[in-house]
Amino acid sequence: MNDQIERILISSEEIDKKVHELAEVLNAQYKGREVVLVCVLKGSVMFYSDLAKLLEFPVIFDFMCVTSYGNSSTSSGSVKIVKDLTCDIKDKDVLMIEDIIDTGNTINQIKNMLADRKPNSLKLCCLLDKPSRRIIPLEADFKGIVIPDEFVVGYGLDYAERFRQLPYIGVLKRCIYEN
Ligand code: IMP
Ligand code: MG
Repeated sequence: MNDQIERILISSEEIDKKVHELAEVLNAQYKGREVVLVCVLKGSVMFYSDLAKLLEFPVIFDFMCVTSYGNSSTSSGSVKIVKDLTCDIKDKDVLMIEDIIDTGNTINQIKNMLADRKPNSLKLCCLLDKPSRRIIPLEADFKGIVIPDEFVVGYGLDYAERFRQLPYIGVLKRCIYEN
């Protein structure tokens, strides 16, 4: 284990099991429909690619990149688009794939922007949920694992752009981000 990680919160086996469970739910929900699968970069990239491989309905890949946290571990409140979608999502079934919902601020802003483009449907699938920190009352339509209020990294999630490559989700040692 990486020496900057205090403990493993979710092992890669547990992640894999949850991704399969979510795929099964999505396969039932979207059977026979074509869906624009929106990857919210960068944190969702591992989840997105593992999940996409298990989907049995037709999907169009698209990517969106926003920044919310900068290099700190607390939300800045405002979300900036770094890269927009390339697809026109009007009248399309759109499924947003997110790594984590924390305060709800980031995904709420993205959801409002995409809703303005008049998709036929717009749903949210997230791997991790930290409901104890929610500021905006927002729930994912498809939700993976509820976690406690701890700063986690790995499986796409970063601290200052690091640790994304870890195959598990771990709690970062506090000394790394405090002071
Ligand atoms: P929110 O706007 O507070 O819901 O934060 C959502 C975004 O903040 C996520 O997409 C992540 O990029 C980041 N984030 C929130 N909590 C964590 C965490 O524990 N570790 C790493 N990134 C996080
Ligand atoms: Mg981040």
